[in-house]
Amino acid sequence: MKITRKPSGDRAVLSETATVADGGQLSAADGASQSSPSVAPSASAIAAVATASAAATTSPAAVELASVVAKPRVGRRLVRPADDCDHEGILSGKKALVFGVANDHSIAWGIAKALHDQGAEVGFSSMASLIKRRVRPLAASIGSTFVEGCDVRDDDEIRKVFERYHAREGNLDILVHAVAYAEKEDLAGHFTSTSRDGFHTAFDISVYSLIAMAREAQPYMNPGASIMTMTYYGAEKVVPHYNVMGVAKAALEATTRYLAADLGPAGIRVNAISAGPVRTLSAHGIAGFRSMHSAFAEVTPLRRHITIEDVAGTAVYLASSLSGQTTGEVIYVDGGFNILGLPVQDEE
Ligand SMILES: NC(=O)c1ccc[n+]([C@@H]2O[C@H](COP(=O)([O-])OP(=O)(O)OC[C@H]3O[C@@H](n4cnc5c(N)ncnc54)[C@H](O)[C@@H]3O)[C@@H](O)[C@H]2O)c1
Repeated sequence: MKITRKPSGDRAVLSETATVADGGQLSAADGASQSSPSVAPSASAIAAVATASAAATTSPAAVELASVVAKPRVGRRLVRPADDCDHEGILSGKKALVFGVANDHSIAWGIAKALHDQGAEVGFSSMASLIKRRVRPLAASIGSTFVEGCDVRDDDEIRKVFERYHAREGNLDILVHAVAYAEKEDLAGHFTSTSRDGFHTAFDISVYSLIAMAREAQPYMNPGASIMTMTYYGAEKVVPHYNVMGVAKAALEATTRYLAADLGPAGIRVNAISAGPVRTLSAHGIAGFRSMHSAFAEVTPLRRHITIEDVAGTAVYLASSLSGQTTGEVIYVDGGFNILGLPVQDEE
């Protein structure tokens, strides 16, 4: 059955001609055209709020917020010549370590770039096999030299990354966990076919790694530090083919809350960003991803795809003291998709 929304004033009118993909649930874990324009509404929304707040008050937060407005927003060009981190920004003086850059389409890269644009010094950890060709050139483009290999299935490797980071760079203010993995066969077909090994793998890499990173990072994190991870709506509602990863994301969101309670007294905040579909390497591992994704921008309230810059805007907020009293939360960057009871398309 197709369901469309007639654009009649403010109100949606349902007719029986519209489309709901795969039996009613639209969208999946990923998708969006990489070449789609990156309008970065998060940055402009922050800017609008900042202008109003800065005019109304002279609190430190308002001053800090105002400094965001003065900064150019995250640009479309993701790789540019190296520049050192000598400019002022909302994150000036902060140090960040980002796990999960695979290439310049990675959400982790969008976040790293935005943290850098706001004045943070950014270090990287990724799978060793990706470092030479993929990660080091990206890191160099923003003047970063700390790049360490790590397979997050190995506690020793995780510990060594943080020890080396501390020995070279000192304490840490921002930790980004943008790592997930499930076997391809567990991201297709029936959920009942999920293998025991596949379940373990998905949970080990996508969930336990956050606990291990938080534990190893804690001794080196400054008070006021921020840890963030990446989740998806498939944690809450059934999304076709997301299967074991949906269950892993549910566990990741619960893990976020338990870590937030544990680390809160040390002044460390832990939050999750629930991003709408973004076309990345991992996203392509999900069966039917392209077709499930294609209708996303037609139904999500803000009517466009999600970019890594959109996610990065919220990451900057979570990394900064503007979110100083926010912990254990899941924050959506999905154009409002999660508020819909029934996604409907406009009538042509
Ligand atoms: N793309 C989306 O639509 C979307 C939506 C919501 C949430 N997310 C989440 O965002 C995060 C980043 O994913 P992405 O979409 O940018 O894809 P990506 O493929 O660019 O990043 C995933 C990263 O995980 C790393 N990884 C996998 N196994 C690892 C291991 N054993 N050790 C170390 N690193 C390992 C990969 O090397 C890669 O760098 C993931 O948690 C993903 O679930 C993605």
